[in-house]
Amino acid sequence: MSKNSDIKIYEYDAVIVGSGLAGLAAAKELTEAGKKTAVITKLHPLRSHSGAAQGGINAALGKEDSTELHEFDTVKGSDYLADQDCVELMCSKAPETIRWAEHMGAVFSRDEEGDIAIRPFGGQSQPRACYAKDRTGLTLLQTIYEQADRAGIEVYDEWYAGDLLYEDGKVSGVVAYNIKDSKVAIFNAKVTMFATGGNGRLFRFNSNAHANTGDSLSIVARHGLPLEDMEFVQFHPSGLGGSGVLISEAARGEGGRLFNSKGERFMTKYAPNAMELASRDVVSRAIMEEVRQGRGVGKDGQSVNIDLTHLDPEIILTRLPELRELAIAFQGQDMLKEPIHISATAHYSMGGIPTNIDCQVQKNAAGELVEGFYAAGECACVSVHGANRLGANSVLEAMLFGRHAGENMIKALDEGVSLRKASVEDAQTCIDEMHTIKTSNGNETVPKIRTELQNGMTADAGVFRTKESLDRQLALIDELLERFKHIRIDDKSYTFNTDLQEAIELGHMLESAKVVVVGALHREESRGGHFREDFPTRDDEKYMVHTYATMDKDFNVDIEWGEVTQGKFEPMERKY
Ligand code: FUM
Repeated sequence: MSKNSDIKIYEYDAVIVGSGLAGLAAAKELTEAGKKTAVITKLHPLRSHSGAAQGGINAALGKEDSTELHEFDTVKGSDYLADQDCVELMCSKAPETIRWAEHMGAVFSRDEEGDIAIRPFGGQSQPRACYAKDRTGLTLLQTIYEQADRAGIEVYDEWYAGDLLYEDGKVSGVVAYNIKDSKVAIFNAKVTMFATGGNGRLFRFNSNAHANTGDSLSIVARHGLPLEDMEFVQFHPSGLGGSGVLISEAARGEGGRLFNSKGERFMTKYAPNAMELASRDVVSRAIMEEVRQGRGVGKDGQSVNIDLTHLDPEIILTRLPELRELAIAFQGQDMLKEPIHISATAHYSMGGIPTNIDCQVQKNAAGELVEGFYAAGECACVSVHGANRLGANSVLEAMLFGRHAGENMIKALDEGVSLRKASVEDAQTCIDEMHTIKTSNGNETVPKIRTELQNGMTADAGVFRTKESLDRQLALIDELLERFKHIRIDDKSYTFNTDLQEAIELGHMLESAKVVVVGALHREESRGGHFREDFPTRDDEKYMVHTYATMDKDFNVDIEWGEVTQGKFEPMERKY
Protein backbone atom coordinates (compact mmCIF):
# COMPACT_ATOMS: atom_id res chain seq x y z
CA MET A 1 0.00 0.00 0.00
CA SER A 2 1.15 3.52 -0.65
CA LYS A 3 2.42 6.25 1.62
CA ASN A 4 1.38 9.70 0.42
CA SER A 5 4.91 10.42 -0.78
CA ASP A 6 4.76 7.33 -3.03
CA ILE A 7 1.58 8.31 -4.81
CA LYS A 8 2.16 9.18 -8.43
CA ILE A 9 -0.15 11.59 -10.18
CA TYR A 10 -0.44 10.96 -13.91
CA GLU A 11 -2.01 13.56 -16.15
CA TYR A 12 -4.07 12.67 -19.23
CA ASP A 13 -6.55 14.26 -21.56
CA ALA A 14 -8.78 11.23 -21.16
CA VAL A 15 -8.92 8.31 -18.77
CA ILE A 16 -11.08 5.30 -19.57
CA VAL A 17 -11.83 2.60 -17.03
CA GLY A 18 -12.60 -0.72 -18.72
CA SER A 19 -11.16 -2.23 -21.86
CA GLY A 20 -13.99 -4.15 -23.47
CA LEU A 21 -15.55 -3.08 -26.74
CA ALA A 22 -16.89 0.23 -25.42
CA GLY A 23 -13.69 1.31 -23.68
CA LEU A 24 -11.41 0.32 -26.55
CA ALA A 25 -13.65 1.93 -29.18
CA ALA A 26 -13.46 5.23 -27.30
CA ALA A 27 -9.74 4.90 -26.61
CA LYS A 28 -8.96 4.20 -30.26
CA GLU A 29 -10.85 7.29 -31.40
CA LEU A 30 -9.26 9.53 -28.78
CA THR A 31 -5.74 8.28 -29.41
CA GLU A 32 -6.08 8.61 -33.17
CA ALA A 33 -7.24 12.19 -32.60
CA GLY A 34 -4.01 12.86 -30.74
CA LYS A 35 -5.50 12.93 -27.25
CA LYS A 36 -3.33 11.55 -24.48
CA THR A 37 -5.45 8.66 -23.26
CA ALA A 38 -5.03 6.03 -20.56
CA VAL A 39 -7.07 2.84 -20.35
CA ILE A 40 -7.24 1.29 -16.89
CA THR A 41 -8.41 -2.30 -16.54
CA LYS A 42 -8.35 -4.85 -13.77
CA LEU A 43 -7.81 -7.52 -16.45
CA HIS A 44 -5.93 -7.57 -19.72
CA PRO A 45 -8.04 -6.05 -22.54
CA LEU A 46 -8.28 -9.39 -24.33
CA ARG A 47 -9.82 -10.96 -21.22
CA SER A 48 -12.65 -8.41 -21.09
CA HIS A 49 -16.13 -9.88 -20.90
CA SER A 50 -17.05 -8.48 -24.34
CA GLY A 51 -15.07 -11.46 -25.63
CA ALA A 52 -17.71 -13.79 -24.20
CA ALA A 53 -20.48 -12.45 -26.46
CA GLN A 54 -21.12 -15.35 -28.75
CA GLY A 55 -24.05 -15.02 -31.08
CA GLY A 56 -23.89 -11.74 -32.97
CA ILE A 57 -24.17 -8.01 -33.44
CA ASN A 58 -27.37 -6.56 -34.88
CA ALA A 59 -27.63 -4.45 -38.02
CA ALA A 60 -30.45 -4.28 -40.54
CA LEU A 61 -28.52 -5.69 -43.50
CA GLY A 62 -31.08 -8.21 -44.76
CA LYS A 63 -33.01 -7.59 -47.97
CA GLU A 64 -36.36 -7.59 -46.12
CA ASP A 65 -35.02 -5.61 -43.18
CA SER A 66 -34.87 -1.89 -42.38
CA THR A 67 -33.49 0.27 -39.60
CA GLU A 68 -37.06 1.18 -38.74
CA LEU A 69 -37.92 -2.50 -38.16
CA HIS A 70 -34.80 -2.84 -36.02
CA GLU A 71 -35.96 0.18 -34.02
CA PHE A 72 -39.45 -1.21 -33.64
CA ASP A 73 -38.21 -4.61 -32.45
CA THR A 74 -35.86 -2.92 -29.98
CA VAL A 75 -38.56 -0.66 -28.55
CA LYS A 76 -41.08 -3.50 -28.37
CA GLY A 77 -38.43 -5.75 -26.81
CA SER A 78 -37.73 -3.06 -24.21
CA ASP A 79 -41.39 -3.20 -23.18
CA TYR A 80 -41.55 0.44 -24.32
CA LEU A 81 -39.16 1.68 -21.63
CA ALA A 82 -36.22 2.45 -23.95
CA ASP A 83 -35.57 6.07 -24.86
CA GLN A 84 -36.61 6.15 -28.48
CA ASP A 85 -34.19 8.87 -29.61
CA CYS A 86 -31.28 6.72 -28.44
CA VAL A 87 -32.76 3.61 -30.09
CA GLU A 88 -33.07 5.52 -33.36
CA LEU A 89 -29.44 6.60 -33.19
CA MET A 90 -28.28 3.06 -32.45
CA CYS A 91 -30.31 1.32 -35.15
CA SER A 92 -29.63 3.88 -37.85
CA LYS A 93 -25.88 3.72 -37.23
CA ALA A 94 -25.75 -0.07 -36.90
CA PRO A 95 -24.90 -0.88 -40.55
CA GLU A 96 -22.11 1.69 -40.53
CA THR A 97 -20.78 0.21 -37.29
CA ILE A 98 -20.54 -3.20 -38.94
CA ARG A 99 -18.60 -1.68 -41.84
CA TRP A 100 -16.33 0.12 -39.36
CA ALA A 101 -15.58 -3.19 -37.67
CA GLU A 102 -15.07 -4.92 -41.00
CA HIS A 103 -12.70 -2.23 -42.25
CA MET A 104 -10.71 -2.63 -39.05
CA GLY A 105 -10.28 -6.28 -39.98
CA ALA A 106 -13.09 -8.15 -38.23
CA VAL A 107 -13.74 -11.41 -40.05
CA PHE A 108 -17.48 -12.06 -40.13
CA SER A 109 -19.04 -15.32 -41.29
CA ARG A 110 -20.35 -15.14 -44.87
CA ASP A 111 -23.45 -16.39 -46.65
CA GLU A 112 -23.44 -18.21 -49.98
CA GLU A 113 -23.33 -14.96 -51.90
CA GLY A 114 -20.32 -13.78 -49.96
CA ASP A 115 -22.22 -11.18 -47.94
CA ILE A 116 -21.95 -10.90 -44.18
CA ALA A 117 -24.09 -13.75 -42.84
CA ILE A 118 -27.05 -12.85 -40.63
CA ARG A 119 -28.96 -15.17 -38.32
CA PRO A 120 -32.32 -14.87 -36.54
CA PHE A 121 -32.31 -13.92 -32.87
CA GLY A 122 -35.11 -13.70 -30.32
CA GLY A 123 -37.71 -10.94 -30.45
CA GLN A 124 -36.66 -9.79 -33.90
CA SER A 125 -38.89 -9.78 -36.93
CA GLN A 126 -35.97 -10.32 -39.34
CA PRO A 127 -32.64 -12.14 -39.19
CA ARG A 128 -30.12 -9.39 -38.37
CA ALA A 129 -27.46 -10.76 -36.05
CA CYS A 130 -24.18 -10.54 -37.99
CA TYR A 131 -21.78 -13.10 -36.59
CA ALA A 132 -18.37 -14.68 -36.62
CA LYS A 133 -19.31 -18.33 -35.97
CA ASP A 134 -20.18 -18.29 -32.25
CA ARG A 135 -17.21 -16.13 -31.31
CA THR A 136 -18.50 -12.74 -32.41
CA GLY A 137 -17.50 -10.75 -29.32
CA LEU A 138 -14.05 -12.29 -29.24
CA THR A 139 -13.47 -11.56 -32.92
CA LEU A 140 -14.51 -7.94 -32.47
CA LEU A 141 -12.51 -7.54 -29.26
CA GLN A 142 -9.34 -8.89 -30.85
CA THR A 143 -9.83 -6.66 -33.88
CA ILE A 144 -10.46 -3.47 -31.98
CA TYR A 145 -7.66 -4.18 -29.51
CA GLU A 146 -5.20 -4.64 -32.38
CA GLN A 147 -6.26 -1.36 -33.94
CA ALA A 148 -6.32 0.55 -30.65
CA ASP A 149 -2.90 -0.85 -29.85
CA ARG A 150 -1.66 0.20 -33.30
CA ALA A 151 -3.00 3.69 -32.62
CA GLY A 152 -0.85 3.72 -29.48
CA ILE A 153 -3.32 3.52 -26.58
CA GLU A 154 -1.66 3.37 -23.18
CA VAL A 155 -3.06 0.49 -21.16
CA TYR A 156 -2.67 0.08 -17.41
CA ASP A 157 -3.70 -3.55 -17.24
CA GLU A 158 -4.18 -5.32 -13.92
CA TRP A 159 -4.80 -1.96 -12.28
CA TYR A 160 -7.87 -1.69 -10.07
CA ALA A 161 -9.83 1.56 -10.21
CA GLY A 162 -11.06 2.18 -6.67
CA ASP A 163 -12.46 5.70 -6.67
CA LEU A 164 -13.62 8.57 -8.81
CA LEU A 165 -12.30 12.12 -8.45
CA TYR A 166 -15.59 13.97 -8.12
CA GLU A 167 -16.02 17.45 -6.74
CA ASP A 168 -18.51 20.24 -7.33
CA GLY A 169 -20.31 18.44 -10.12
CA LYS A 170 -17.11 17.72 -12.04
CA VAL A 171 -15.11 14.52 -12.53
CA SER A 172 -11.36 14.81 -12.99
CA GLY A 173 -10.07 11.26 -13.17
CA VAL A 174 -9.80 8.20 -10.96
CA VAL A 175 -7.72 6.67 -8.20
CA ALA A 176 -6.39 3.19 -8.95
CA TYR A 177 -3.91 0.72 -7.55
CA ASN A 178 -1.56 -1.62 -9.33
CA ILE A 179 -2.65 -5.17 -8.51
CA LYS A 180 0.98 -6.29 -8.89
CA ASP A 181 2.28 -4.33 -5.88
CA SER A 182 -0.75 -2.51 -4.38
CA LYS A 183 0.79 0.90 -5.21
CA VAL A 184 -1.84 3.61 -5.51
CA ALA A 185 -1.79 6.25 -8.25
CA ILE A 186 -4.01 9.10 -9.35
CA PHE A 187 -5.02 9.37 -12.99
CA ASN A 188 -5.92 13.00 -13.33
CA ALA A 189 -7.84 13.73 -16.53
CA LYS A 190 -9.82 16.38 -18.34
CA VAL A 191 -12.43 13.79 -19.32
CA THR A 192 -13.15 10.42 -17.75
CA MET A 193 -15.15 7.49 -19.02
CA PHE A 194 -16.49 4.37 -17.30
CA ALA A 195 -16.90 1.32 -19.54
CA THR A 196 -16.61 -1.38 -16.93
CA GLY A 197 -19.35 -3.85 -17.90
CA GLY A 198 -22.06 -5.33 -15.74
CA ASN A 199 -22.72 -6.93 -12.38
CA GLY A 200 -23.99 -10.41 -13.32
CA ARG A 201 -21.92 -12.00 -10.54
CA LEU A 202 -24.58 -10.82 -8.08
CA PHE A 203 -26.45 -14.01 -8.97
CA ARG A 204 -25.60 -17.61 -8.19
CA PHE A 205 -26.37 -18.73 -11.78
CA ASN A 206 -24.90 -16.31 -14.24
CA SER A 207 -23.19 -16.24 -17.60
CA ASN A 208 -20.70 -13.59 -16.55
CA ALA A 209 -16.94 -13.49 -16.09
CA HIS A 210 -15.65 -13.47 -12.51
CA ALA A 211 -14.66 -9.85 -13.03
CA ASN A 212 -18.26 -8.69 -13.53
CA THR A 213 -18.83 -7.40 -10.03
CA GLY A 214 -20.24 -4.03 -11.05
CA ASP A 215 -17.58 -2.00 -9.23
CA SER A 216 -18.09 1.25 -11.09
CA LEU A 217 -21.81 1.25 -10.30
CA SER A 218 -21.31 1.57 -6.60
CA ILE A 219 -18.26 3.82 -7.01
CA VAL A 220 -20.60 6.25 -8.73
CA ALA A 221 -23.33 5.71 -6.14
CA ARG A 222 -20.87 6.34 -3.28
CA HIS A 223 -20.54 9.88 -4.59
CA GLY A 224 -24.29 10.43 -4.35
CA LEU A 225 -24.80 10.06 -8.10
CA PRO A 226 -27.80 8.07 -9.33
CA LEU A 227 -28.10 4.68 -11.01
CA GLU A 228 -30.90 4.17 -13.50
CA ASP A 229 -33.31 1.23 -13.95
CA MET A 230 -31.16 -1.20 -11.99
CA GLU A 231 -34.11 -3.47 -11.21
CA PHE A 232 -34.08 -4.68 -14.82
CA VAL A 233 -31.82 -7.71 -14.91
CA GLN A 234 -31.79 -9.89 -17.99
CA PHE A 235 -31.97 -13.64 -17.51
CA HIS A 236 -30.71 -15.36 -20.63
CA PRO A 237 -32.78 -18.46 -21.40
CA SER A 238 -29.87 -20.72 -22.10
CA GLY A 239 -27.16 -21.10 -19.52
CA LEU A 240 -25.75 -24.58 -19.07
CA GLY A 241 -27.71 -26.30 -16.31
CA GLY A 242 -26.01 -26.01 -12.94
CA SER A 243 -23.27 -23.59 -14.02
CA GLY A 244 -25.01 -20.87 -16.02
CA VAL A 245 -22.25 -20.81 -18.69
CA LEU A 246 -23.67 -19.19 -21.82
CA ILE A 247 -25.10 -21.28 -24.64
CA SER A 248 -25.73 -18.58 -27.19
CA GLU A 249 -29.16 -17.64 -28.43
CA ALA A 250 -27.61 -18.60 -31.77
CA ALA A 251 -28.47 -22.18 -30.77
CA ARG A 252 -32.15 -21.26 -30.98
CA GLY A 253 -31.52 -18.91 -33.90
CA GLU A 254 -30.12 -21.84 -35.88
CA GLY A 255 -33.17 -23.94 -35.04
CA GLY A 256 -32.73 -25.34 -31.49
CA ARG A 257 -35.99 -26.47 -29.86
CA LEU A 258 -36.91 -26.50 -26.18
CA PHE A 259 -38.51 -29.53 -24.50
CA ASN A 260 -39.59 -30.32 -20.94
CA SER A 261 -39.26 -33.66 -19.15
CA LYS A 262 -42.49 -34.88 -20.76
CA GLY A 263 -41.05 -34.26 -24.20
CA GLU A 264 -43.42 -31.33 -24.77
CA ARG A 265 -42.24 -28.43 -26.90
CA PHE A 266 -43.55 -26.09 -24.24
CA MET A 267 -43.02 -22.75 -26.01
CA THR A 268 -46.27 -23.46 -27.90
CA LYS A 269 -48.03 -22.40 -24.67
CA TYR A 270 -46.04 -19.27 -23.96
CA ALA A 271 -45.25 -17.76 -27.37
CA PRO A 272 -47.17 -19.64 -30.06
CA ASN A 273 -45.88 -17.52 -32.93
CA ALA A 274 -42.25 -16.80 -32.14
CA MET A 275 -41.80 -20.02 -30.11
CA GLU A 276 -38.12 -20.37 -29.05
CA LEU A 277 -37.37 -17.02 -30.67
CA ALA A 278 -39.60 -14.94 -28.43
CA SER A 279 -37.74 -12.30 -26.46
CA ARG A 280 -35.40 -13.45 -23.70
CA ASP A 281 -37.59 -12.44 -20.78
CA VAL A 282 -40.50 -14.45 -22.18
CA VAL A 283 -38.44 -17.58 -22.88
CA SER A 284 -36.65 -17.43 -19.51
CA ARG A 285 -39.93 -17.22 -17.63
CA ALA A 286 -41.33 -20.10 -19.67
CA ILE A 287 -38.34 -22.28 -18.78
CA MET A 288 -38.51 -21.43 -15.10
CA GLU A 289 -42.26 -22.01 -15.04
CA GLU A 290 -41.79 -25.51 -16.52
CA VAL A 291 -39.18 -26.18 -13.85
CA ARG A 292 -41.48 -24.86 -11.08
CA GLN A 293 -44.28 -27.10 -12.33
CA GLY A 294 -42.03 -30.12 -11.93
CA ARG A 295 -41.37 -30.64 -15.62
CA GLY A 296 -37.65 -29.94 -15.48
CA VAL A 297 -34.86 -32.28 -16.51
CA GLY A 298 -31.42 -33.07 -15.11
CA LYS A 299 -30.33 -34.46 -11.74
CA ASP A 300 -32.10 -31.75 -9.79
CA GLY A 301 -34.92 -31.14 -12.27
CA GLN A 302 -33.84 -27.50 -12.61
CA SER A 303 -33.19 -27.46 -16.37
CA VAL A 304 -34.98 -28.08 -19.66
CA ASN A 305 -33.64 -29.63 -22.85
CA ILE A 306 -32.48 -27.76 -25.90
CA ASP A 307 -32.41 -30.10 -28.84
CA LEU A 308 -30.34 -29.49 -31.98
CA THR A 309 -30.04 -33.10 -33.11
CA HIS A 310 -32.45 -32.52 -36.02
CA LEU A 311 -30.05 -29.97 -37.57
CA ASP A 312 -27.54 -30.82 -40.25
CA PRO A 313 -24.36 -31.54 -38.21
CA GLU A 314 -22.51 -29.17 -40.57
CA ILE A 315 -24.50 -26.26 -39.10
CA ILE A 316 -23.35 -27.10 -35.59
CA LEU A 317 -19.77 -27.76 -36.64
CA THR A 318 -19.39 -24.61 -38.68
CA ARG A 319 -21.64 -22.10 -36.90
CA LEU A 320 -21.77 -23.29 -33.29
CA PRO A 321 -18.46 -25.06 -32.65
CA GLU A 322 -17.72 -23.36 -29.35
CA LEU A 323 -21.17 -24.07 -27.93
CA ARG A 324 -20.70 -27.74 -28.69
CA GLU A 325 -17.32 -27.75 -26.96
CA LEU A 326 -18.69 -25.94 -23.91
CA ALA A 327 -21.53 -28.43 -23.45
CA ILE A 328 -19.13 -31.35 -23.81
CA ALA A 329 -16.62 -29.84 -21.40
CA PHE A 330 -19.06 -28.76 -18.69
CA GLN A 331 -21.77 -31.40 -18.99
CA GLY A 332 -20.43 -34.24 -21.07
CA GLN A 333 -23.31 -33.67 -23.51
CA ASP A 334 -22.66 -33.58 -27.23
CA MET A 335 -25.33 -31.54 -29.00
CA LEU A 336 -24.69 -33.44 -32.22
CA LYS A 337 -26.03 -36.59 -30.55
CA GLU A 338 -28.35 -35.57 -27.72
CA PRO A 339 -30.28 -32.65 -26.22
CA ILE A 340 -28.37 -30.59 -23.67
CA HIS A 341 -29.57 -29.22 -20.33
CA ILE A 342 -30.03 -25.48 -20.04
CA SER A 343 -31.68 -23.06 -17.66
CA ALA A 344 -32.17 -19.31 -17.24
CA THR A 345 -28.96 -17.55 -16.21
CA ALA A 346 -28.35 -13.96 -15.07
CA HIS A 347 -26.78 -12.34 -18.09
CA TYR A 348 -27.03 -8.59 -18.40
CA SER A 349 -27.96 -5.42 -16.56
CA MET A 350 -30.28 -3.20 -18.56
CA GLY A 351 -29.76 -0.44 -16.00
CA GLY A 352 -26.61 1.41 -15.06
CA ILE A 353 -25.02 4.83 -14.88
CA PRO A 354 -27.52 7.23 -16.49
CA THR A 355 -26.28 9.08 -19.55
CA ASN A 356 -27.76 11.34 -22.18
CA ILE A 357 -27.69 10.37 -25.86
CA ASP A 358 -24.08 11.61 -26.07
CA CYS A 359 -22.91 9.33 -23.25
CA GLN A 360 -22.50 12.18 -20.76
CA VAL A 361 -23.33 11.06 -17.24
CA GLN A 362 -26.42 12.56 -15.63
CA LYS A 363 -26.43 13.99 -12.14
CA ASN A 364 -30.13 13.45 -11.52
CA ALA A 365 -33.48 12.43 -12.95
CA ALA A 366 -33.93 15.93 -14.36
CA GLY A 367 -31.02 15.26 -16.71
CA GLU A 368 -28.45 17.74 -15.35
CA LEU A 369 -24.98 16.61 -16.41
CA VAL A 370 -21.82 15.81 -14.51
CA GLU A 371 -18.95 17.73 -16.09
CA GLY A 372 -16.20 15.70 -17.75
CA PHE A 373 -17.80 12.31 -17.13
CA TYR A 374 -18.94 9.74 -19.73
CA ALA A 375 -20.12 6.14 -19.64
CA ALA A 376 -20.94 3.52 -22.27
CA GLY A 377 -21.51 -0.21 -22.61
CA GLU A 378 -23.21 -2.39 -20.02
CA CYS A 379 -22.29 -0.22 -17.02
CA ALA A 380 -24.20 2.66 -18.63
CA CYS A 381 -27.90 3.22 -19.15
CA VAL A 382 -28.38 5.42 -22.20
CA SER A 383 -31.20 3.76 -22.36
CA VAL A 384 -31.59 1.64 -25.49
CA HIS A 385 -32.67 -1.58 -23.79
CA GLY A 386 -35.36 -0.34 -21.44
CA ALA A 387 -36.81 -3.26 -19.50
CA ASN A 388 -35.49 -6.05 -21.73
CA ARG A 389 -32.60 -6.13 -24.17
CA LEU A 390 -32.71 -7.92 -27.50
CA GLY A 391 -29.91 -10.39 -28.08
CA ALA A 392 -27.07 -9.00 -30.21
CA ASN A 393 -27.96 -5.40 -29.35
CA SER A 394 -25.39 -5.20 -26.55
CA VAL A 395 -22.33 -5.78 -28.71
CA LEU A 396 -23.77 -3.16 -31.03
CA GLU A 397 -24.45 -0.75 -28.20
CA ALA A 398 -20.95 -1.20 -26.75
CA MET A 399 -19.13 -0.61 -30.04
CA LEU A 400 -21.38 2.16 -31.26
CA PHE A 401 -21.83 4.15 -28.07
CA GLY A 402 -18.22 3.53 -27.05
CA ARG A 403 -17.10 5.14 -30.29
CA HIS A 404 -19.73 7.86 -29.90
CA ALA A 405 -18.45 8.61 -26.37
CA GLY A 406 -14.92 8.84 -27.78
CA GLU A 407 -16.04 11.29 -30.46
CA ASN A 408 -17.90 13.39 -27.91
CA MET A 409 -14.91 13.46 -25.58
CA ILE A 410 -12.73 14.61 -28.47
CA LYS A 411 -15.21 17.37 -29.21
CA ALA A 412 -15.27 18.47 -25.57
CA LEU A 413 -11.46 18.46 -25.40
CA ASP A 414 -11.24 20.46 -28.62
CA GLU A 415 -13.69 23.01 -27.27
CA GLY A 416 -11.50 23.28 -24.18
CA VAL A 417 -11.86 21.47 -20.85
CA SER A 418 -9.77 22.65 -17.94
CA LEU A 419 -7.99 20.14 -15.72
CA ARG A 420 -8.81 20.30 -12.02
CA LYS A 421 -5.39 19.47 -10.65
CA ALA A 422 -5.47 16.49 -8.31
CA SER A 423 -3.47 16.26 -5.10
CA VAL A 424 -2.33 13.17 -3.20
CA GLU A 425 -5.12 13.70 -0.66
CA ASP A 426 -7.56 12.69 -3.41
CA ALA A 427 -6.33 9.11 -3.00
CA GLN A 428 -7.29 8.92 0.67
CA THR A 429 -10.67 7.18 0.31
CA CYS A 430 -9.16 4.42 -1.81
CA ILE A 431 -6.22 3.99 0.57
CA ASP A 432 -8.54 3.91 3.60
CA GLU A 433 -10.72 1.24 1.97
CA MET A 434 -7.69 -0.97 1.29
CA HIS A 435 -6.33 -0.41 4.79
CA THR A 436 -9.64 -1.12 6.54
CA ILE A 437 -10.05 -4.41 4.70
CA LYS A 438 -6.49 -5.54 5.30
CA THR A 439 -6.54 -4.75 9.02
CA SER A 440 -10.09 -5.90 9.72
CA ASN A 441 -9.87 -8.89 12.01
CA GLY A 442 -13.38 -10.25 12.32
CA ASN A 443 -14.70 -13.74 11.81
CA GLU A 444 -16.56 -13.32 8.52
CA THR A 445 -15.14 -14.40 5.17
CA VAL A 446 -15.62 -13.00 1.68
CA PRO A 447 -16.63 -16.30 0.01
CA LYS A 448 -19.29 -16.97 2.67
CA ILE A 449 -20.94 -13.55 2.38
CA ARG A 450 -20.68 -13.60 -1.41
CA THR A 451 -22.29 -17.04 -1.67
CA GLU A 452 -25.17 -16.00 0.60
CA LEU A 453 -25.69 -12.87 -1.49
CA GLN A 454 -25.66 -14.79 -4.78
CA ASN A 455 -27.97 -17.56 -3.56
CA GLY A 456 -30.42 -15.02 -2.21
CA MET A 457 -30.40 -12.92 -5.38
CA THR A 458 -31.13 -15.95 -7.55
CA ALA A 459 -33.87 -17.26 -5.26
CA ASP A 460 -35.56 -14.00 -4.27
CA ALA A 461 -34.69 -11.30 -6.81
CA GLY A 462 -34.44 -13.50 -9.90
CA VAL A 463 -36.76 -14.39 -12.75
CA PHE A 464 -39.84 -14.27 -10.48
CA ARG A 465 -40.18 -11.69 -7.74
CA THR A 466 -42.76 -10.76 -5.09
CA LYS A 467 -42.81 -8.18 -2.32
CA GLU A 468 -42.24 -10.98 0.15
CA SER A 469 -39.21 -12.39 -1.69
CA LEU A 470 -37.71 -8.96 -2.28
CA ASP A 471 -38.23 -7.92 1.36
CA ARG A 472 -36.46 -11.10 2.39
CA GLN A 473 -33.54 -10.35 0.07
CA LEU A 474 -33.36 -6.74 1.23
CA ALA A 475 -33.14 -7.87 4.86
CA LEU A 476 -30.42 -10.34 3.89
CA ILE A 477 -28.40 -7.67 2.07
CA ASP A 478 -28.66 -5.34 5.08
CA GLU A 479 -27.46 -8.15 7.32
CA LEU A 480 -24.60 -8.95 4.92
CA LEU A 481 -23.58 -5.28 4.71
CA GLU A 482 -23.30 -5.31 8.51
CA ARG A 483 -21.38 -8.59 8.56
CA PHE A 484 -19.08 -7.30 5.81
CA LYS A 485 -17.68 -4.86 8.40
CA HIS A 486 -16.35 -7.88 10.28
CA ILE A 487 -14.51 -9.71 7.55
CA ARG A 488 -10.99 -10.98 7.73
CA ILE A 489 -8.74 -11.73 4.77
CA ASP A 490 -5.79 -14.06 5.22
CA ASP A 491 -3.45 -12.57 2.64
CA LYS A 492 -1.86 -9.45 4.10
CA SER A 493 0.72 -9.08 1.33
CA TYR A 494 1.13 -6.34 -1.27
CA THR A 495 1.68 -8.61 -4.25
CA PHE A 496 -1.23 -9.77 -6.40
CA ASN A 497 -3.44 -9.72 -3.34
CA THR A 498 -6.59 -11.22 -4.82
CA ASP A 499 -8.10 -11.62 -1.32
CA LEU A 500 -8.02 -7.85 -1.00
CA GLN A 501 -9.45 -7.30 -4.47
CA GLU A 502 -12.27 -9.78 -3.93
CA ALA A 503 -13.17 -8.10 -0.65
CA ILE A 504 -13.33 -4.68 -2.33
CA GLU A 505 -15.43 -6.20 -5.10
CA LEU A 506 -17.79 -7.79 -2.58
CA GLY A 507 -18.43 -4.37 -1.05
CA HIS A 508 -19.44 -3.13 -4.49
CA MET A 509 -21.61 -6.18 -5.12
CA LEU A 510 -23.53 -5.75 -1.88
CA GLU A 511 -24.23 -2.11 -2.66
CA SER A 512 -25.38 -2.59 -6.25
CA ALA A 513 -27.48 -5.60 -5.17
CA LYS A 514 -29.26 -3.34 -2.73
CA VAL A 515 -30.04 -0.87 -5.51
CA VAL A 516 -31.41 -3.70 -7.70
CA VAL A 517 -33.68 -4.96 -4.92
CA VAL A 518 -34.97 -1.58 -3.77
CA GLY A 519 -35.75 -0.63 -7.38
CA ALA A 520 -37.57 -3.94 -7.84
CA LEU A 521 -39.62 -3.31 -4.69
CA HIS A 522 -40.63 0.17 -5.84
CA ARG A 523 -41.67 -0.96 -9.30
CA GLU A 524 -45.04 -2.55 -8.55
CA GLU A 525 -45.68 -3.85 -12.04
CA SER A 526 -44.22 -6.42 -14.46
CA ARG A 527 -42.26 -5.15 -17.43
CA GLY A 528 -39.59 -6.89 -19.49
CA GLY A 529 -37.07 -8.68 -17.31
CA HIS A 530 -38.74 -7.49 -14.08
CA PHE A 531 -41.60 -9.84 -13.24
CA ARG A 532 -43.58 -9.26 -10.06
CA GLU A 533 -45.93 -12.17 -9.43
CA ASP A 534 -47.94 -9.91 -7.14
CA PHE A 535 -48.26 -7.29 -9.93
CA PRO A 536 -48.22 -9.45 -13.06
CA THR A 537 -49.15 -6.81 -15.65
CA ARG A 538 -47.49 -3.74 -17.08
CA ASP A 539 -48.80 -0.48 -15.65
CA ASP A 540 -48.00 2.33 -18.10
CA GLU A 541 -49.99 4.88 -16.19
CA LYS A 542 -47.79 4.65 -13.12
CA TYR A 543 -44.57 3.08 -14.26
CA MET A 544 -43.76 4.22 -17.79
CA VAL A 545 -40.81 5.92 -16.05
CA HIS A 546 -37.16 5.26 -15.36
CA THR A 547 -35.98 4.75 -11.78
CA TYR A 548 -33.08 6.85 -10.50
CA ALA A 549 -31.67 5.36 -7.31
CA THR A 550 -29.31 7.19 -4.97
CA MET A 551 -27.61 5.75 -1.93
CA ASP A 552 -26.43 7.53 1.23
CA LYS A 553 -23.44 6.69 3.42
CA ASP A 554 -25.54 4.25 5.48
CA PHE A 555 -26.64 2.46 2.30
CA ASN A 556 -30.19 3.81 2.41
CA VAL A 557 -31.48 3.83 -1.14
CA ASP A 558 -33.86 6.49 -2.37
CA ILE A 559 -35.82 6.20 -5.63
CA GLU A 560 -36.83 9.05 -7.93
CA TRP A 561 -38.66 8.68 -11.22
CA GLY A 562 -37.53 10.11 -14.56
CA GLU A 563 -39.19 10.59 -17.90
CA VAL A 564 -38.95 8.06 -20.76
CA THR A 565 -38.27 9.66 -24.16
CA GLN A 566 -41.15 8.56 -26.34
CA GLY A 567 -41.08 8.52 -30.14
CA LYS A 568 -42.88 7.15 -33.12
CA PHE A 569 -43.75 3.77 -31.56
CA GLU A 570 -46.84 3.91 -29.37
CA PRO A 571 -46.86 1.49 -26.41
CA MET A 572 -48.78 -1.70 -27.20
CA GLU A 573 -49.33 -5.01 -25.52
CA ARG A 574 -46.27 -7.13 -26.19
CA LYS A 575 -47.01 -10.51 -27.75
CA TYR A 576 -44.71 -12.97 -29.49
O1 FUM B 1 -26.81 -15.45 -26.79
C1 FUM B 1 -25.86 -14.75 -27.11
O2 FUM B 1 -25.10 -15.03 -28.03
C2 FUM B 1 -25.68 -13.49 -26.38
C3 FUM B 1 -25.69 -12.36 -27.04
C4 FUM B 1 -26.08 -11.13 -26.35
O3 FUM B 1 -26.29 -11.15 -25.14
O4 FUM B 1 -26.25 -10.12 -27.03
